[in-house]
Amino acid sequence: MKVLGITGSPREKSNTEYFVRIALGELEAQGITTELISLREKKIQACRGCYGCIEAKTCTLEKDDFDEVFDKMLEADGLIIGAPVYNSSTPAGVKALLDRAGFLSRWIRNEMKDNKESYNWKGTAFSGKVAAPITVARRAGQNFAFAELLLWLTVNDFIVAGSHYWNVGVAGKGGAVDAENDSEGIGIMKHMATNMAHIIKQLKK
Ligand SMILES: Cc1cc2nc3c(=O)[nH]c(=O)nc-3n(C[C@H](O)[C@H](O)[C@H](O)COP(=O)(O)O)c2cc1C
Repeated sequence: MKVLGITGSPREKSNTEYFVRIALGELEAQGITTELISLREKKIQACRGCYGCIEAKTCTLEKDDFDEVFDKMLEADGLIIGAPVYNSSTPAGVKALLDRAGFLSRWIRNEMKDNKESYNWKGTAFSGKVAAPITVARRAGQNFAFAELLLWLTVNDFIVAGSHYWNVGVAGKGGAVDAENDSEGIGIMKHMATNMAHIIKQLKK
């Protein structure tokens, strides 16, 4: 049983990474292996909409760090995607990964039909995996960014773990890195991780 945490902040010290680590720590305490990937260290180009993955069953863009991250997403039973809120949305790096991973995961499992044929979708490469979003903002835009991640998870056939509140963390004044002061946020992440561990264990029985 393994959960992969992806943190999408380009900052070295990051509130988002702090909250993702809190969730992963709780999962570890409950017997789940975890790994953290920071997109700060990865170069992932934006999807160019070439539709090459439909035939190739792999992303046909020039090689970058996408394949490595995508393979780890496929290997995991659970996924936590953490993103800072940038202008009420997720940062470009997170969007680049999710656009490519979502499209590829669909076409790995399915074939494009012509206009007269109907689809009998065979899920996605993420079907049955458990996931949760985390967003972090200084003040506003949480709902939009959180919903963006949630919409990505639900269209890609993940099973979403909730908490007793949305998994949102609050950054300090001027966006300062002081996540450790957000005790409510820490509690939310821990509870989400407990739910995620519970679902994964049930699914693995
Ligand atoms: C380009 C940019 C846009 C931002 N937009 C918002 C915003 O829309 N709403 C908000 O509350 N905070 C916004 N912030 C503040 C960040 O969400 C905040 O600093 C958060 O802690 C960033 O996450 P990190 O600490 O993981 O890097 C923005 C920061 C940057 C750099």
